[in-house]
Amino acid sequence: MRPAIILLAAAISATAAPPDDKALLALIRDRSKALDRVTAAPVSMDHLTALDCRAPSGPPVPTGPHKDALLHLYVSNGHHAPLFDPWAKFPEGTVLLKEKLPAKDDGPPTLFTGMIKREKGFWPELGDWEFFTADGNAATITSRGKTETCAACHTDYKDRDFVSKRITIPGDAPAPELTQLSSGRVVLHSVRAIVSGKNLRYEPPQNKNTLGFWTDPADSASWTFSIHTPGKFDVEVVQGCGKGSGDALVEVSFAPFEADKSPPPIAPLKFNVKDTGHFQNFVPRSIGTVTLPTAGLWTVTVQPRSKPGPAVMDLQSINLSPVPK
Ligand code: HEC
Repeated sequence: MRPAIILLAAAISATAAPPDDKALLALIRDRSKALDRVTAAPVSMDHLTALDCRAPSGPPVPTGPHKDALLHLYVSNGHHAPLFDPWAKFPEGTVLLKEKLPAKDDGPPTLFTGMIKREKGFWPELGDWEFFTADGNAATITSRGKTETCAACHTDYKDRDFVSKRITIPGDAPAPELTQLSSGRVVLHSVRAIVSGKNLRYEPPQNKNTLGFWTDPADSASWTFSIHTPGKFDVEVVQGCGKGSGDALVEVSFAPFEADKSPPPIAPLKFNVKDTGHFQNFVPRSIGTVTLPTAGLWTVTVQPRSKPGPAVMDLQSINLSPVPK
C-alpha cells in the first residue's frame, strides 16, 4: 500500500477522529483506490428517484439534488455489508460517497455528496450521520455537518439507518442488477434471493431478515449477479439452525446465467448445516472456494439434499471474497 492510502485508511478507521476537510478531499480524489465502489457501471438516478425523490410530507420535488444524472456509489473499505442488509446499521467511521456524473456519462463528475458515520451522540436523530458535499473536482468541501436539507429526505430511511440503500436493495422501485464490488467482493443477501418451491421465502421483519420456512428440501434459492473481475473466491454462508434440526446436506452450485456460455461445469460446494441452537442465531461459515473463470452474469443455487429435522436452515446471506493471487 502507498503511504497516502495508509493515511487515508487511518483517517476513516473507527477509532480515529473524523477526516478534516483536507483528508476528506484527498479521500474523494483517491476514491478509486481508497474506497470500495459498489456500482460497476454508472447507475441512472432518475430510475431510482422517480418514486422517492421528494420531501417527506409535501409535493414531489422534480429538481432534487439527485435528478437527471448518473451516479457511482462508494463505501469505505470493509463497511459495505450493511448496504446489502435492510436492517443493518453502519459502524462508526463509515464513509458513503456518491459521485454524480453528467447524464450521458461523457464528462467529469459534477458533484459529490456523502455521509460520514460519526461518534455516538453526534446527531442521534439522524443516526449520527454527518452529511457533506464537494464540487466535481473535489477541490472544495462545499458543505458539511448536520445539514437539515439532506436530513429532510434521508429521515425517510430511518429503518435503514438513514441510508436509502436503493442501489443495493429493491424497494418501491427495482434495484439495479447485483454486481461485484471493486474490491472483488460479492454480497448475496436473502432479501435479493429468488426462491423456487412451496414454502421457502424471505421473511422481512428485523428479527428474521432471512430465508426461512425451508421445510421442503425440494425448495431452492438462487441469486444472479455480475462479475467483472473473474477469479477464485472464498464462499461464506451465514446460516442459523434450530436445536435438533442440524446436519442437512446442502449443495451450492455456480453456473453462468446464460446456458450457451458454458465453461466446463463447476463441481458444487457441499456443506452440512450446523445446529446453532436457534434458527435466527446466525453464524458465518466458510464452505470452500470456487473459481468463476469468466466475466459476466453468474447464478448460484442453494439446494438441500437432505433434511434430518423439521427444517433445513435459515439462510441470511452468501458472501464471496476474492482469494489473493
Ligand atoms: C429530495 C430528497 C433528497 C435530498 C434533499 C437528499 N437526498 Fe440523498 N438520496 C436521496 C435518494 C432518493 C437517494 C437514493 C437514490 C440516489 O442515490 O440518488 C439518496 C442517496 C444518497 C446517498 C447514497 C447512499 C444512499 O442513501 O443510498 C448519499 C451519500 C446521499 N444521498 C447524500 C445526500 C446529501 C449529502 C444530501 C444533502 C446535500 C442529500 N443526500 C439530500 C434523496 C435525497
